[in-house]
Amino acid sequence: MAFTLPELPYAHDALQPYMSKETLEYHHDKHHQAYVTNGNNLLKGTEFEGKSVEEVVRGAFGKNQALFNNAGQHYNHLHFWKWMKPNGGGKIPGSLEKALLDGFGSVDKAKEDLIAAGTGQFGSGWGWLAVVNGKVVASKTPNGENPLVHGGTPILGVDVWEHSYYIDYRNRRPDYLKAFVDHLVNWEYVAELYEKAAK
Ligand SMILES: [Fe+2]
Repeated sequence: MAFTLPELPYAHDALQPYMSKETLEYHHDKHHQAYVTNGNNLLKGTEFEGKSVEEVVRGAFGKNQALFNNAGQHYNHLHFWKWMKPNGGGKIPGSLEKALLDGFGSVDKAKEDLIAAGTGQFGSGWGWLAVVNGKVVASKTPNGENPLVHGGTPILGVDVWEHSYYIDYRNRRPDYLKAFVDHLVNWEYVAELYEKAAK
């Protein structure tokens, strides 16, 4: 199926002051749209036409780099908009809290490891929490990669491309990551993905 740009699940100004209207106008309306447009052009005539975005991401990895880059970023951003919400970062649903305790020893350590992964990613990429062999682990990936191509199921990702934070935070990537974890994460959506992945 062709890739399509989803509507943001909130208004462009709904995540202020932690993520500005201007950032979301560029990031969602321009950058994500470009991944959709380029991805659809690159899909034409390939064996991946008509496949789900997950199948395209897994199938194109290591085979068709240009298609992978755009499909990977389409997948990542589809979830990224839902990984945030206004007044996010609050209470973590019980099932997920238990999994984070199990994987990291404490919820704070899980958050710290996610922030460290995002801070430690050299250049463009993503910080992740993913389910690998039934456990939640933190990781980082470059560019459009994600845990789907490294044996995991992503449950939370934070975009550390400069287009995600430079308007609001300039070079202060750690401040952006802390604001994301403390004020933006939609933990209900993370828990929903965890429950599906853990089945
Ligand atoms: Fe992005």
